[in-house]
Amino acid sequence: MFRLHTWAAFLAVAAISLSTSALAEEKDKAPEIGKLMHKSFDEGGLRDQIKSAVKDKDFDVAAKAVKEWITEAKGLENATPPQDLKKGWTKAAKGFQTTLSTLEKAIDKKDAKAVEAAFKKINCGACHNTFKLPKKKA
Ligand code: HEC
Repeated sequence: MFRLHTWAAFLAVAAISLSTSALAEEKDKAPEIGKLMHKSFDEGGLRDQIKSAVKDKDFDVAAKAVKEWITEAKGLENATPPQDLKKGWTKAAKGFQTTLSTLEKAIDKKDAKAVEAAFKKINCGACHNTFKLPKKKA
């Protein structure tokens, strides 16, 4: 589980890296990872939008958001994580995409419990510990 204090530390790091990531250029077709992360997990981002829509039983809104999320995460496996730690990236990226389709199925079934379970499968640490958050080590 992702605990609160981890979140706090994590958000602090994220805030520092915000300014640099805004300058990063878009690469080919692969999404820019940092940009996708903010779109996904920032306050009011896709995760929040889906969570609150599901809470309000507004599954149409949730379905739209998850479709957008899947589109945004398309080609993630072709993106290059920081420090060129390519090893294991494909698997991690695909795992994230698989979780998003699990989430989509749960939303299509209007199953709030399954939605919650799918969200729990997004393992920030699994990626971040391996691929390192920007600025953490620099
Ligand atoms: C598929 C692997 C993966 C998963 C899962 C993942 N991240 Fe990331 N995240 C990354 C990588 C790689 C970076 C570094 C991006 C860069 O610097 O280009 C990153 C960076 C970030 C950043 C900083 C973005 C920036 O450049 O400013 C935030 C914020 C973030 N992640 C939030 C999260 C949260 C919250 C979760 C879990 C709910 C999560 N991430 C799950 C791979 C992942």
